[in-house]
Amino acid sequence: MQKHNVAVIAGDGIGPEVISEGIKVLKRVAELDGGFTFEFTEYPWGCQYYLEHGRMMPKNGLELLQKSDAIFLGAVGDPSVPDHISLWDLLLVIRKSFDQYINLRPVKLLKGAPCPLKDVQREEIDMLFVRENSEGEYAGSGSWLFKGQPNEVVIQDGVFSRRGCERVIRYAYELARKEHKSLTSISKGNALNYSMVFWDQIFKEVGADFPDVKTYSYLVDAASMFMIKDPKRFQIVVTSNLFGDILTDLGAAIAGGMGLAAGANINPERAFPSMFEPIHGSAPDIAGRGKANPLATVWSASQMLAHFGHRKWADRLIDIIEEILVDGEVLTPDMGGTATTSAVGDEVLKKLG
Ligand code: NAD
Ligand code: IPM
Ligand code: MN
Repeated sequence: MQKHNVAVIAGDGIGPEVISEGIKVLKRVAELDGGFTFEFTEYPWGCQYYLEHGRMMPKNGLELLQKSDAIFLGAVGDPSVPDHISLWDLLLVIRKSFDQYINLRPVKLLKGAPCPLKDVQREEIDMLFVRENSEGEYAGSGSWLFKGQPNEVVIQDGVFSRRGCERVIRYAYELARKEHKSLTSISKGNALNYSMVFWDQIFKEVGADFPDVKTYSYLVDAASMFMIKDPKRFQIVVTSNLFGDILTDLGAAIAGGMGLAAGANINPERAFPSMFEPIHGSAPDIAGRGKANPLATVWSASQMLAHFGHRKWADRLIDIIEEILVDGEVLTPDMGGTATTSAVGDEVLKKLG
């Protein structure tokens, strides 16, 4: 029997509420399959932990996580701790330390999911973002000089290494080739005259190995406009860390909302565990009231199953999410329903049979 050791960081706000539904679903999938099991190890890290211990996770936190086959994360962030501390000392340090340089974020409008766009056919919103997840605008490099003085200066560097750009761009080309889809690079070479000119150059260089892949290149401002006006232009998309962050929240807005937006932080070499998490945050405005939509987390669980090679179950979960949306009977308030978080989780189990 195959065993998957999964480290769980439920985190803050709605994190614990959605993660417990995700775990419930994964356990049931394993039971039904019979060929594999999950062992979940929960780590109580997050902002409450910070308030008690002065750090977001213990000193050996990464060592503990490294023993796992995957990490399942809810959300991090609470008004009681500055965001740049809570996120840098937990979520971002994991993505970077475990070299999870690929962030896969599907933007796919399932049947039954709400969409604010008029004149757009449902099938036209079907993209997969490959977001650079280890450097770029999130490199954490910079300085803060003359603090509090009239000549105060703040510098935030964007760090784009050849290796860092090549590997994410190559990954995206390979995916596009495998899935017979077009590949779109989103950058901003007209204004960012070092980093994004370099990005565009590498997109072309790597492309020489993929003459069979149809490519497009957009400036990020135009791309955000086309995602609304003509989303069918985008299939596989590769972009930088910050642009990917922003565009995938925009993507969530056109593909059913934050409650449906999933993400996987992948270390393709499998030298480190990959991490699966909904792309939404801790949603302090609705936390603790059973209102959070757990379907994004279930979708991330589907990505985890695919990562472990259980393709059939991964696809089954997406089908079930779609069935629940089409039925329209057991939905959380963000989808126009009145069901609780756990009622939606129960509905997934019911559909699993
Ligand atoms: P958010 O994603 O938490 O919330 C934005 C809006 O979407 C809110 O109105 C919220 O109620 C709604 N929403 C989000 N997820 C939902 C769900 N599953 N079901 C129903 N509604 C949902 O973003 P924010 O308010 O900008 O950030 C709140 C905190 O979360 C901040 O501390 C931020 O730094 C952090 N954050 C963490 C992560 C992460 O851990 N991966 C991601 C984004 C933001
Ligand atoms: C996300 C989040 C994070 C990011 C924050 C919380 C650091 O917004 O996963 O989209 O910007 O990557
Ligand atoms: Mn984000």
